[in-house]
Amino acid sequence: MPPPHLPESARLYVRPAVLADLDDIVEIERASFDAPWPRSGFRDELACVNSAARIAVAVRDGEIAGFMNYWHVDDERHVLNFAVHPKHRRCGVGRALLDYLHEVARADDVHLLMLEVRVSNTAARELYRGAGFFDFDVRKHYYSDNGEDAVVMLCVLRDLDIG
Ligand SMILES: CC(C)(COP(=O)(O)OP(=O)(O)OC[C@H]1O[C@@H](n2cnc3c(N)ncnc32)[C@H](O)[C@@H]1OP(=O)(O)O)[C@@H](O)C(=O)NCCC(=O)NCCS
Repeated sequence: MPPPHLPESARLYVRPAVLADLDDIVEIERASFDAPWPRSGFRDELACVNSAARIAVAVRDGEIAGFMNYWHVDDERHVLNFAVHPKHRRCGVGRALLDYLHEVARADDVHLLMLEVRVSNTAARELYRGAGFFDFDVRKHYYSDNGEDAVVMLCVLRDLDIG
């Protein structure tokens, strides 16, 4: 169901995920990555085994089109998993998920958004740049499947109050 402030007919919206979304999340993950997270990982996140974990889903034309798994880490939010189903890509779904992240983070007075992305992942890096993230650091040989480097990207939402 769309959130109450949107009409039933809204083409694209983002909402917190529920356990019933698990199959769609797993399908999108498997369609998006060579080494997908296991189903049990997402199930645990949805069941709040880790109380810091949140998943949001984007619904487009009545289908779960993408999802984002992120953690509350003090006054930061760390994005762990982010994917859009191949048939819904380049339609603004990724951007809608990041807009939602900005919205909920600002509501919580969050200071920083953080994520890691493969150096070769041009699509994702462009998406994140467009949402206000910048390259902060490189973790050498971060990904165990091919030894690829990760770029750490940050988005600063507010300055820290330091003495
Ligand atoms: C990266 C990904 C999430 C983008 O999602 P999306 O819904 O297609 O992105 P959007 O339609 O919201 O695109 C927003 C902007 O991102 C950039 N972008 C998205 N896909 C791009 C691509 N293939 N090449 C270059 N830029 C791209 C563009 O700037 C785009 O704006 P534009 O369409 O006006 O040019 C999607 O391609 C995906 O799921 N990839 C596989 C999983 C993955 O890599 N996840 C990220 C792990 S860190």
